[in-house]
Amino acid sequence: MCGIIGYSGICSVMPKIVNGLSALEYRGYDSAGVAFFEGDRIRTVKSAGRIENLKAALGDLCENENIKCGIGHTRWATHGEPSSRNSHPHGTERVMIVHNGIIENFVELKAFLADKGYSFESETDTEAAAKLIDFFYGESKNAVDAIQRARAMLRGSYAVCALFSGEPNRIYGFRKDNPLLAAPHEDGNFFASDISAVLAHTRRFRRLEENEIAVLDSKNITVLGADGCSVECVFETESRTQDSLEKCGFEHFMLKEIAEEPRVINQTIKSVIKDGLPCFDQGLFVGAEKIHIVACGTAMHAGMLGKYVIERLSGIPVFVELASEFRYRNPILGKGDIVVLISQSGETADTLAALRLAKAEGARTLGIVNVVGSAVAREADNVIYTNAGTEVAVASTKAYSVQLAVLFLLAVDLGHKSGKLEDSAAKAYVEALLKIPDAVEKMFAKKDDCSAIAQKYTNSKSIFFMGRGVDYALSMEAALKMKEVSYIHCEGIAAGEMKHGTISLISEGVPVFVFATDNRLFEKTVSNIKEVRARGARVVLVCNEKMDVPEGIADDIIRIPETEELFATLVAAVPAQLLAYYMSCHLGLDVDKPRNLAKSVTVE
Ligand code: AGP
Repeated sequence: MCGIIGYSGICSVMPKIVNGLSALEYRGYDSAGVAFFEGDRIRTVKSAGRIENLKAALGDLCENENIKCGIGHTRWATHGEPSSRNSHPHGTERVMIVHNGIIENFVELKAFLADKGYSFESETDTEAAAKLIDFFYGESKNAVDAIQRARAMLRGSYAVCALFSGEPNRIYGFRKDNPLLAAPHEDGNFFASDISAVLAHTRRFRRLEENEIAVLDSKNITVLGADGCSVECVFETESRTQDSLEKCGFEHFMLKEIAEEPRVINQTIKSVIKDGLPCFDQGLFVGAEKIHIVACGTAMHAGMLGKYVIERLSGIPVFVELASEFRYRNPILGKGDIVVLISQSGETADTLAALRLAKAEGARTLGIVNVVGSAVAREADNVIYTNAGTEVAVASTKAYSVQLAVLFLLAVDLGHKSGKLEDSAAKAYVEALLKIPDAVEKMFAKKDDCSAIAQKYTNSKSIFFMGRGVDYALSMEAALKMKEVSYIHCEGIAAGEMKHGTISLISEGVPVFVFATDNRLFEKTVSNIKEVRARGARVVLVCNEKMDVPEGIADDIIRIPETEELFATLVAAVPAQLLAYYMSCHLGLDVDKPRNLAKSVTVE
């Protein structure tokens, strides 16, 4: 989603902004722009499309050594088409801002401002916020006062960086529900919505709190509290380095990140094992009567799959729900209920809102989060980090796999602590989990087979994915992955549900990709395969290595290396991801940055 970078220093600003915006590309965007000081005049340059277009629009300005302060933005369109007119920065000759988030009451604000003589050039909500600040700045000529008065009228979510013409080479930043960091460097100081934007320069940063305003120039970063007085500015250090944002010889980040799965799964499992058993600080789950898993997209699919395994090993009922539904449903949460929020980014707007709602209702909360220090991690009562490292490709792969690993470990832990699993059984499951990274590695080695299979289906209009139990949950994720990066219509279906409607879409040549790693349900799934084959479907079957597959049931079979059956989906996720990856490559699409998608969905 949108990205922000700001810099004031002794160096030329444009390379820093352009490189910073490039590092934020992975978040997804469809236009970009900059505002900068030329003397005490604020100038803007914007363009629709990729950062290359912005660079072209900037021309010689890219090299201009005299421009040393500016703000840049990548916009993911919400209000108004992706065009140079709607792209940020927005504002006036006096005040120019870049904004991440949504100003919900922009219609009301525009009416207020129209009454004061303002007119609007764009369709954006941001322009209303910019002109509101301008209005108050016009009255008081004081930037902090203008921000505070405008902020009192803004409804919605925002991270904002602002330039004021009366204060050259100074940048103001403030936020609510969207992250914004101030980062110091000896050559100047930065604002960024995400540390990735400045990792090439510094790993030190200060997260802004919701009621603060930060002001930076080439020498200082000052943070003001709600009362306008300066507060202590203690910097954290990011553990990731710039290397984590490189492709390291892989053609795409998505393939690199799938290849990293054996290592990150191994790391995650080993980090929580003590004396052969998972060792989470699970005071949180004592007396847990129900677990609600709430998340979006891929993270929700991990939760769906985790439900089967947690219920089977611990006997605790698990309910899984989309965060966007949960937050407006008035969920009934009992005293003994735990709400588990799963999120790679830890910044997803709906997941964060669901977390806040659960806390307000008195539920105990646990975040399973990849990004350290993200909003979900900071606000949940407890947090388990998935430690997958930076995931750059928009389509989530390694983060999903590590989310599964954590959920499986949690299932073993809960089963053991609830007394449902004896010591020996729990330890046997842990042993089995420790073998998974090897199996994942072997599976990845068969990537050329996945490429060849994907090649056969590049002309498909639709692909259906089906399975039962854990394989149904995996089918949902496989369908999402495929549609995200191939733009082919895909549906994930519970195999037993096919004949209740979707089978009407099966005709000669329609592909059905089947996941069948749960041996107990294999025969049932075979019956469902026969039903679709009888109607002309072409079938790709993913099943266990030793499974006895009836002759002629599938056009292609992908066999996954032998593993504990309950955890086999963690291995079967690899062909699901690789099929999507290669399909996108064969179709010549931008696999790491699929159209319209954002890595971190910070608006509703
Ligand atoms: C994954 O491939 C998707 N890009 C998307 O569904 C994602 O999983 C979802 O937006 C949730 O993100 P989160 O894990 O960062 O909360």
